[in-house]
Parts: sequence; C-alpha cells; structure tokens
Amino acid sequence: MKRGVIKLISKLITLIGPFISVILLAVVNGVIGYLLAINITLFAGIAILKFLGIAISLSYPLIFTIIILSGILRGIVRYFEQYSNHYIAFKILAILRIKIFRALRHLSLDKLEDKSKGDLVSLLQGDIETLEVFYAHTITPVLIALLTSVVMVIFICLTTSIYLGLYLILAYLIIGVIIPVIFYKVNSKFGRKYRLKMAQFEDFYLDSIYGGYEIIANNKQEMYKKEVTKRSKDLIDVTKKSEMKNNTFMNITNSVIVILNILIIVIGYLLYKNNMILNYEIILAYVVLTSSLGPVLALANLPSNLVQTFASGNRVLDILELKSSIVDGNTNISNVLPITFNKVSFKYDTKYILNNVNLTINKNEIVGILGPSGVGKSTILKLIMRFYDVSSGEVLINDMNIKNISYKSLYDNINLFSQSTYLFHDTILNNLLIAKSDASKEEVIAACQNAGIYDYILAQKEGFNTKISDLKDNISEGEKQRLGLARVFLRKPKLLLLDEATANIDAINEGIILNALKQYSKDMSIIIISHRKSTLSICNKIYEFKEGNLCLV
Ligand SMILES: Nc1ncnc2c1ncn2[C@@H]1O[C@H](COP(=O)(O)OP(=O)(O)OP(=O)(O)O)[C@@H](O)[C@H]1O
Ligand SMILES: [Mg+2]
Repeated sequence: MKRGVIKLISKLITLIGPFISVILLAVVNGVIGYLLAINITLFAGIAILKFLGIAISLSYPLIFTIIILSGILRGIVRYFEQYSNHYIAFKILAILRIKIFRALRHLSLDKLEDKSKGDLVSLLQGDIETLEVFYAHTITPVLIALLTSVVMVIFICLTTSIYLGLYLILAYLIIGVIIPVIFYKVNSKFGRKYRLKMAQFEDFYLDSIYGGYEIIANNKQEMYKKEVTKRSKDLIDVTKKSEMKNNTFMNITNSVIVILNILIIVIGYLLYKNNMILNYEIILAYVVLTSSLGPVLALANLPSNLVQTFASGNRVLDILELKSSIVDGNTNISNVLPITFNKVSFKYDTKYILNNVNLTINKNEIVGILGPSGVGKSTILKLIMRFYDVSSGEVLINDMNIKNISYKSLYDNINLFSQSTYLFHDTILNNLLIAKSDASKEEVIAACQNAGIYDYILAQKEGFNTKISDLKDNISEGEKQRLGLARVFLRKPKLLLLDEATANIDAINEGIILNALKQYSKDMSIIIISHRKSTLSICNKIYEFKEGNLCLV
C-alpha cells in the first residue's frame, strides 16, 4: 500500500506514544546544544572584535570562560540528546519486532501466502533496522531545527535587524525545507526500487541456498552463480546511482549555502549603508547566521536516508495493518470429538476444491481418506486445524462450530503429523521433549519403544544426548518419521492427523508405524490420508474422493 508522506509519518510517530517524554528530553538537550555551539562562535567573534579595537565591555577572561563552559556543556547535553535518541530508537525497534511477530502469528495463511520467505527476512531485519534512522535521527533533528531556528530568528530580530531576521527565515526554509522536499520527490521512486530489488535479491539468494541440492542434482550451479552475480551487480548499480544522486544533492546544497552566506554580507552592507545597523554588527550577524545553519543542514541530509526509511516504514505498516480474515474463537474445549463436516464447500481462490463434503470422525476411530493427488485431502486437514475457514457449510468440533473454539485448545488436542519430521539442531532428547517438556525418562523411553526407534537411539554414541548435527547422514527418513511418532506418543493428542506420514518410507517402516498407531487408537482418534490403499489397512472407516465427491467406501 502506498501512503502519503504525512500519513506515513503520523502513523510511524503514533508508535512512539509511550516515549514522548524521552523525545522532549532529546529535543531540549539538542536545542540547548546547538545554542551553546552558536554561543561559542558568537563569543569567539566578540573576542576578535575586541581585539580589533571595538569597544566591548566584557573582559577577555570572561569571554574565554564563557567559550570553554559552553564547550563543556555542549558535550554533556549532546551526550544526553544522543542517549535519549538511541534509547527511543532501540526500544521502538524491539517493540516493532514484537508487533510484527505478533501480527505474523495471528495472520491467517491466506494473507501470508503471497509473502515469500526472503521478503519476510528482509522485513524483519533490514526494514526495521532502516527505521532506526527515522526514530533516532529524524524526529528529534526536525524538532530541534525548528526550535533552534525560531530562537535564532527572534535573537537576530531583537539584537540586529528585523530584515536580517526575515532573511534568516528564508535561508532556513531554502536549506531545511525546499531543497530536501525537491530531493525527496525526485528520489522517492528510487528508494522504493532499491528496497524492492534488495528484497528480491535476498529472496533469490535464500532460495538458492534452500534449493542447493536440487541445483546440483540438475547441474544448474553455473546458471545460479551467474544469476546471483547479475543480481548483485544490479544492486550495486542501483546503490551507485543512489550515491551519485546524494552527492549531486549535497553539492547543490553546499553551493546554495555559499550563495546565502555571500548574500548576508550584501544585505548587511546595505543595512549599514542605510544606517540601520552598526558596522561590526554585520560581522556578528554573519558569524551567528552561518553557525546557526547547523540544525537545518542536518535536515538537508535527511532525504537520502528518508527515501529508504519511508519505503521500509510502508512495508512494516503493511504487515501491521493486515487484518486476518480468521478470528480466534474464545471457547476453550477439552474434547475435540466427534468432528463433523456438514455440507462443507471450500475454495482457496475461485475454484471450489471441496463441494458439499460430509464427514464424521468419532472417538477411538481410525478414519482413512483416499484419493488421487490434488483432490483436496490435505485441505480437509487444514480445515480441521482451522488454517482456513470454510466457504460454506460448517465444521463442528464436539457439536460446536470450529469458529468459536480457541486455537490454543484446538492445538492442545490435535496433532498434525506430516510427510517429513523436522529435527531441531539439538540433542535427540530435546527433540523429543518438544512434545512434552516435563516428560519423565520412563515416558520418553516408552514412547520411543512404541515408535520402534529406541534401539536406534541406544546405538548412537551418546544415546539420547546425541546431537542431531552429529548424526549427519546417519539417519534415514524412516528413522526421522519414527522420532516424529515418538513425539506423537509423548503428546498423546486426542486426535492425530496423518498427512501421507508414511509416504516417503519403505513398507517395513510403514508397517512398524501403523502397528504402533493401531495399538494406541484406543486412546486417540486418527485420520490417515494417503493415496495408497495399503496404508489404510488399519482404518475402521474409509472415505474416498470419487469424481470430486467424498464417499464412504
Ligand atoms: N494455498 C493454496 N492456494 C490455492 N490453491 C491451493 C492451495 N493449497 C492447495 N491448493 C490447491 O487445492 C487443490 C487441493 O490441494 P490439496 O493439498 O488438498 O490436495 P491433496 O489431495 O492433499 O494432494 P496430494 O495428494 O498431492 O497431497 C490442489 O489443486 C492444490 O493445487
Ligand atoms: Mg496432500
């Protein structure tokens, strides 16, 4: 979504609501810091004028004491300003990350499916990091520049001439507003393009790492290498162009500053000619005016960062504002059976995958679902896990519409066991305990024995404490699946969903797993999905997809 700059800024600022007091602290310190810096130049100018013979009543020791004190104080307030800025920035980055993770966790699959993995990584790392610039180096500089400028204009109007004050307003506007806005307008498309290219690059790069095996298997290493090189070159080109633009912009700004400085002398001279100011006041005004450009000059540097910052801000807000189409239910249940599909129809996009499906799974039943690839078998399980809501009809869990049931209690009772088991980079024991963290040693051993994996574990060097990474290739798909099954036995779900859980393993391993499951079916119901009839031999009841309809066999 493309938001207007004002809307975007105001939305990003609302996120820092709780830190207003820290921002004020940063701004006050920043303004005082700049005024002290200007003070140093001003009193240095006064010292020179005194040296040149202008009657100035302040003594040299006093003037130098003021200069030294201003320098020390400037250091202290600068420290507090930077401290407050970074305090806000890093707190807000942490909060943003938490918010994004929360948003992602609550988003339904349909909203996340168009976000590729690389895109999400780039969002969580790069974009949020980029926003640091906005929170630590944008908000306060703008406020500081505004306040310091107001103070300086008032000071010049009161001490020298209202005309020089008006000129100062014009100079601040040109350097701090007009040039940066023009630059932002010229460069904003560029920033979005850069972020997009970066995200696409990360996506491609991650993809080629994940797909490393396929790339080698298909002998496409050269092709991928070339593509990665080409994309990095593209990215470097975009970066170079962006740097060139920044440099041009800085050159223009610096040239304008030189012209504005010369104009101060011209205007000062004209005012002096018309007896509106004294001769040495021209010099003081010049010194004050040039040294007061600091804060607005800080603004002039913002757009080169801001273009990217706003692009990142837009992407972060896009995720935060996505509304999940699925709302969590608020009823907690302890019994998920029976499960009934009542005239359920479902479509992912436009094409209906399920039409008027009726299905019942009772307590202690092993139900098989058979059908060719792509017919909608896994979709049925996704509806039971409520990854999606039905398009029409209803899914009833123990006679209650699934929409009313909380995800937590649903997942406390249902376990999905699919084609491949993921093992974390940890010990075998910890990989099992993920299913039940407080399981006793006896429970773990029993679960492994029931899953037919106990002997395998004992045969490893450090038994249950063997690291998965130490197993390297010394673990087969069947062994991984049996570890997955041990997890199921530890968790003891009331309903187990098997989605082609034995599809990748040989008949002997499949037999071990199915037998173990049959033994356990008195304590849990099971749905087995397969396109192999033999897998469903342990079922009490089999449904089959025939011409798009699910029929009881
Ligand atoms: N997220 C999705 N968005 C759009 N279409 C989808 C999505 N997931 C699956 N489909 C489509 O829905 C249909 C049914 O998919 P499903 O995964 O339920 O099939 P399946 O019966 O489990 O097949 P297989 O035996 O190959 O696993 C397929 O045509 C698939 O392309
Ligand atoms: Mg499937």
